[in-house]
Order: sequence, then structure tokens, then C-alpha cells
Amino acid sequence: MSTLKAVRGTRDLLPPETALWNRIEATARAVFARYNFGEIRTPVFEDTALFARGVGEETDIVSKEMYTWEDGERFDPSAMADRWRRLNYERFDDFGESGSASGDPIDMAPRDINSDYAELVVFRARESDEALHVLRGALSKALSTPPRLGGYGPNVKARLVVPSSGGERSESETADGILIEKIPGNFFKSSQSLTLRPENTAGVVRAYIEHQLGETGQLQKLYYIGPQFRRERPQKGRYRQFYQIGAEVIGPPSAGSESPLRDAEILEMLATLLDELGITGWTLHLNSVGSAADRARYNEVLRTALDLVVPRMCQDCQRRAVTNPLRVLDCKVPADQPFIDALPVIADSLDGASLADFAAVTAALDAAGVPYIFNHRLVRGLDYYTRTTFEFTHGGLGAQNALLGGGRYDGLSEMLGGPKAPGIGFAIGLDRLVLTLQAQLGQESAPPQVADAFVAPLGESLNAAALVLARELRHKGLWIELGDGSFRLKKSFEAADKTARRIVILGEDELQSGILTVKTFSTGIQTKVPRAELAEFLSS
Ligand code: HAM
Repeated sequence: MSTLKAVRGTRDLLPPETALWNRIEATARAVFARYNFGEIRTPVFEDTALFARGVGEETDIVSKEMYTWEDGERFDPSAMADRWRRLNYERFDDFGESGSASGDPIDMAPRDINSDYAELVVFRARESDEALHVLRGALSKALSTPPRLGGYGPNVKARLVVPSSGGERSESETADGILIEKIPGNFFKSSQSLTLRPENTAGVVRAYIEHQLGETGQLQKLYYIGPQFRRERPQKGRYRQFYQIGAEVIGPPSAGSESPLRDAEILEMLATLLDELGITGWTLHLNSVGSAADRARYNEVLRTALDLVVPRMCQDCQRRAVTNPLRVLDCKVPADQPFIDALPVIADSLDGASLADFAAVTAALDAAGVPYIFNHRLVRGLDYYTRTTFEFTHGGLGAQNALLGGGRYDGLSEMLGGPKAPGIGFAIGLDRLVLTLQAQLGQESAPPQVADAFVAPLGESLNAAALVLARELRHKGLWIELGDGSFRLKKSFEAADKTARRIVILGEDELQSGILTVKTFSTGIQTKVPRAELAEFLSS
């Protein structure tokens, strides 16, 4: 049998690497607490419409990368019966309907055009004993009822029709003569389209609306840590299940949610977090994509400018030039870059208020000493952004150099049917943060976890006593590895040497006397320690 592996683009995170993940998450939680953020946990899957409306139909994320499925699929026997009739209309002239023996869903009872031959047909989602049982019951009833009383006479067969998984039509027969036919087609009705979240901002805003958090009149400052899913081509720093640490500040305008100070505070918090994590060499790219009106104006300017060049650009750009010209700036095709570099920049389409806002953001950053560079191509790959947009990049990451991204989304709540609730937020790619820190720390990033002691019972009869001793020490806060009485002493020493700083031998003598033998690996010294002093000795 072939072994099963983690799906492409997903991976297992194992110790000791997970210790680094935990350290990063703990640092983020501590920093967020100091800025008065609380944690929000939204579901990993949501209604597909949330992302289509929030993130935008024309974005790469929604148009190509989502894991979407129809949930609560229900088998639709009438669709299958229709299809089957169409496949068989030449053989049968009469598709009467009759209740099955068990009173189950209606089964068909067609008669052959040229003879007395008839079939009882049952349509099911799959081949099952239940379906065969129903058919056998109906068949014996039909055979035992004379035609004048509504039966079919002797020439009756039973047929079970099920969907074919491979798309091929086939027929077989069971030992007792029931025909099993497989027909191709989709005979399932969907009830709801669901999607694994490709990002968390839309979910947070949905929750904000659903729980009427705006009614409090306060700013909501929410952070999240969790997996996100995008069907992208996997490479270093890019996975199909990846993790984000993100935060959102959202609220009614009266709570100050529109203030450029919120933008500056978020950026200053990010600089603090990266510094506290020990990430050096990051660059903050900053831009403004203006208000919705500015963006509409810029889209028009772009459309006009693109008219001239777009026939020479890639297929995606040709489509975007019509549907959403701003997305052309996301294009990564090398041959298109000279065209994109020559396009008008968004800064020239911003109105006075947007320019003043952006100036206020940069002035506050200057005052706080947070360095940044302007990047007029930074329009971000999600449609909800307005005004400030930003990314922090890191040179050590290679092609996927965006450590984190974010920006303002003043119209998102209304787009999702909620009240006016301007907001700003970001999401850090946790996988990329880990890669960056690992590269910076070198080997130090994975210090092997070493327990304070390995408790080695001498013989299986001492296993229970060893558990009691380990429990005693663990309750005192020590890290204990518990061996096994089936190990020979040499094997216990080898296992202990790999996992712990010391070994505590627990034999019958030690148990009776209460004096334990402890060996410290770094010095090779063996010590006799009374049980009452053991915890203190092991923590020294
Ligand atoms: P985003 O730029 O799509 O923004 O993603 C944020 C970060 O997630 C990226 O900078 C990157 O570090 C990481 N990331 C994205 N895709 C992958 C992937 N396939 N593998 C590994 N890491 C990845 C958002 O998601 C917005 N929701 C951010 C936001 C919050 N804007 C406002 N509030």
C-alpha cells in the first residue's frame, strides 16, 4: 500500500521548530495586549459570498485561489430519473410511477415497447443493501400480483440505477438477477457554497456586523492568529495552508476609526513587534490608494492609458483592463513590467482630503521615528483597500519577500451589508516570519528541548512507582521524561542522555530507602539524593 503524505502546499510543524512558532505568537500576544487589543477567533470556513463581495471577484485570491465546495449536497433522484428516461426513451414507452414496497421514494415502472417485459427501477445515490432490499420486495410483490390487479405478470426485472464515478455508463447483474446500472451525470443539489478562508479581514468584519459591535460606540481592536488557505503554486515562503497573525481596528467614525492616527499607531505597533522579535533589516513600503472616489477616478485614468498598450500585455491584464484596471498593477509577468512602470501613478488622482490624510500618517510616523519608503505601485491584491496601504518586506525571503501587508478598508462593512465602520489592519505571514528568524538565528533557532531529568525504573514492577515519582517532580515544575521498566539499564542511559540533563534511577533499593541515585551527564558525577531533596537537586 502506498503511504499517505501531507497534501502539496501543506506541511507538518514539528518540535523543536514549533517552539519558535510559540515564542513568536507569545511575543505578538504580549505586544497586542500592550496596545489594548483583544483576541477574536472566527471560523475557518465561511459563506463563499463573503469573500466574493469583500475581497473582490476580480482578485487573484477569489478568481483562482479559493478552496470552495458545495456543502450539504443532496441527492436529487428526479434529476437522475429524467436523465435515465432520456437515455432509455427508445426502449420504453411508459414510465409509470409506483410506490416501492417499503413506501420509499417513487420508483419507475416502465414497460418495454415491444413486449410485456417491464422493469422496476430504483434511483439511488449509491449502491446499497437497502436499495437492493427495497427492489427485491417490490419485485416479489409485482410478480405475485396478477396484471388485472395492477401487477406486472411474470416478465419483470428489477434495476438499480446509481451515478457512475468514472463518467462511464455500465451495467452488471447481481447473483439474484437485479440489474445494476451506472450512469454519468451530476445528480446532486447543492445547498450552500462554502470556502476555506483565504484571509481573515472579511471574517472579522462579518463578525463585527453580526454581533453589532459598532453599537458599543467604541473602537474594536481585534487580533487573530490562525491558518488561511490559498491554492497558490507552492514555493519557499508560499504554502496552500499558511498562518497569519493579524489585527484590525474598526468602529464607527465617532470613535475615531477614520483618524490617520490609527494608521500611524498600527504601523508603529508593527515596527515595535518586529523589533521585539529581533527581526532586523525590514522595509516598510507605504502608499495611499485614496478614497473610493479617488480610486474610481484613477481606474478611469488607467483605463485610458491602458487602451494604448494593453493589446501587447498578458491575457490577464487584457481582462483586468476592462473589469478592474487597478489590478493590472499586481501583474507579475516580466514582459509587462515596462508598460506598468510607465502608467500614471495613483498619487496624481488623489483629492485634497486624501493627500492631507496621508501626510498626517507620514508626519506621525516621522515623529515616532518609524522609517518607511513610498511605493506608488503598492495597491495590494485585495479590492477592499482605501487610503493607506502598506507592506513590510524582508530581503532574506527571496521572491516571496512580503513579511506582512495591510491597509485601510473604509467601505468594507457597507460592502458586506453593515453600518459605516472604517477600519485598518494588517496580517503577518507567520510562516515567513519564522523563515526570517531562522535565517537570522542560524542554529540557535532550534535549541533541542532537554528535560531536567529522566526517571528510569529498574524493572517493570517499578513502572507504577516511577509514574508516582515523575508526577511528584512534575508537580513541582520540573520537566521529566519517564522511561520504562522493560529497558535494560544501558538503554535507559542512552535514552536519558538524548533527552535529559540527568538520570534518576529507581530500583527496589531506592524505593525502600528513599535515597535515589542521580547521574548528571555534563559532569559524569553520580550522587545519592534523598527523595525529599530530589526536586531541589534536579533544578540546580
Ligand atoms: P495579504 O497581503 O494577502 O493580506 O496577506 C498578508 C500576508 O500573508 C502576506 O504579506 C504574506 O506574508 C502572507 N501570505 C499570503 N499568502 C501566503 C501564502 N500562500 N503562503 C505564506 N504566506 C502567505 C491579507 O491577507 C489581508 N487580510 C491583510 C489585512 C488585514 N488587511 C487589512 N487587514
